[in-house]
Amino acid sequence: NSVLSWQRTAFHFQPEQNWMNDPNGPEPKRLVADQRSDRREPAETRRRPDPGPLFYKGWYHFFYQYNPNAAVWGDIVWGHAVSKDLIHWVHLPIAMVADQWYDANGVWTGSATFLDDGSLVMLYTGSTDKSVQVQNLAYPEDLNDPLLLKWVKYSGNPVLVPPPGILPKDFRDPTTAWKTSDGKWRITIGSKINKTGISLVYDTIDFKTYEKHDTLLHKVPNTGMWECVDFYPVSKTAINGLDTSVNGPNVKHIVKASMDDTRFDHYAVGTYFDSNGTWIPDDPTIDVGMSASLRYDYGKFYASKTFYDQNKGRRILWSWIGESDSEAADVQKGWSSLQGIPRTVVLDTKTGKNLVQWPVEEIKSLRLSSKQFDMEVGPGSVVPVDVNTATQLDIEAEFEIKKETLDKILGDSSVVAEAEEFSCQKSGGSTVRGALGPFGFSVLADKSLSEQTPVYFYVAKGKDSKLKAFFCTDTSRSTFANDVVKPIYGSSVPVLEGEKLTMRILVDHSIVEGFAQGGRTCITSRVYPTKAIYGAAKLFVFNNAIDATVTASFKVWQMNSAFIHPYSEEAVRA
Ligand code: FRU
Repeated sequence: NSVLSWQRTAFHFQPEQNWMNDPNGPEPKRLVADQRSDRREPAETRRRPDPGPLFYKGWYHFFYQYNPNAAVWGDIVWGHAVSKDLIHWVHLPIAMVADQWYDANGVWTGSATFLDDGSLVMLYTGSTDKSVQVQNLAYPEDLNDPLLLKWVKYSGNPVLVPPPGILPKDFRDPTTAWKTSDGKWRITIGSKINKTGISLVYDTIDFKTYEKHDTLLHKVPNTGMWECVDFYPVSKTAINGLDTSVNGPNVKHIVKASMDDTRFDHYAVGTYFDSNGTWIPDDPTIDVGMSASLRYDYGKFYASKTFYDQNKGRRILWSWIGESDSEAADVQKGWSSLQGIPRTVVLDTKTGKNLVQWPVEEIKSLRLSSKQFDMEVGPGSVVPVDVNTATQLDIEAEFEIKKETLDKILGDSSVVAEAEEFSCQKSGGSTVRGALGPFGFSVLADKSLSEQTPVYFYVAKGKDSKLKAFFCTDTSRSTFANDVVKPIYGSSVPVLEGEKLTMRILVDHSIVEGFAQGGRTCITSRVYPTKAIYGAAKLFVFNNAIDATVTASFKVWQMNSAFIHPYSEEAVRA
């Protein structure tokens, strides 16, 4: 639909409209969606890429949950695409369809494991003809094919069925396997018991038969069903990523779960015990899924998965970025959802307490012309930033609050401490003025700022007279469309002694990805401007603080579009 075509992105991965249309001809869209009596998902979930990414023979492979028949969730198969650089893609034929009793209701999320001989196995969840969630094994038909076009399902499937005590619809999304010290493979699978989110553990030698552990990898009360559990090591000292089987004294382990109830991806840093396959968080008060715990991203970001990229020695995080508009709008435009720009993910060696995530370096290959800006932005000012068009941008910025103001505010006992009370979600967004914030950028804004998406810092004094920083995105004025959810997103962000406030923002038509302090706190939002589109989209820098003057030093790049091609012999010629 050309009316909404500006919402298509230019450098984010997404299937083309109808690019894999059912060869029997498209079914009526409504029918496909409504037929599903077993729809267990809220309307906003729709297409669900829950990615199974990997690197093989020179190609990054990306598999995703795909509905070839409609722009809503249902009829799930495995979409497949390949890339040389995680930025430019070629769509490949569907990798696996629902053609067996054990996946008749959907080829759901799974993960790849490389075996010692370099071959590859895939474990995935099938929703059976009776909608029971089981785990199945598949492998490439031809390991000499770098495109891994054909997948064979193991004749003995399913290899795992819900164990006693686990309900048939609470057993899904097997992880990549890792090695135990006695040479077995180990996997974990998310589930729940009553309201406790849990992760079951199994050991295997051949991926066909499994021994279930009596103990869990981990559990957290009141978190509900854990989807797409991810489990991986991170280095305490080095900035490179680690293969999933790596363990040792300089290693911490991350447990991440996608919370079906709240639709957020939560993680925690902790210690893994190889001897019994259990894990404990470093800080039990911020355990996986607790409201105070850490999230990969405080915006729209769900069902993510990491993989170890043996090509570049890094761990990469992929995530499904859903829509914030209505299902009707998606049906009208004929597509739904994006992939976020893949991020490298490492432990923050400076804090030791959180991860840092950063867009893969390859994204820089899309940078075109740039402009550098250095300015003082006084309290209450909004400054247009002179860049040509502002629909495809990469922005890197440093902010500093004038020292005089800081000293004054910190020394003035009449300035109330508010850091303990402040929250991006509840404290009113970018128009609410404090002594030291908010300040940042308004992206995808029209020239009168009637539509705008502010991405900003808010700095507040705490009861201990120390400053605390928050990173927020306010989508409440991002569109005049009336079918859009428009939250204010964000969280606190650690700022260490001597650090400036830094942010990076990627803008791509209907997605805004913000990274604060090198990726300690990240916010992805989907926005649907109606005026701030094409040449009418502008960029502003603003400072809505009452007292603080800030110096802003930033560079803005125009971003090229990525090639995301349909499948052809030519497109995949290396
Ligand atoms: C997560 C999820 C997974 C499931 C898949 C089905 O979004 O619900 O738990 O395997 O999507 O499409």
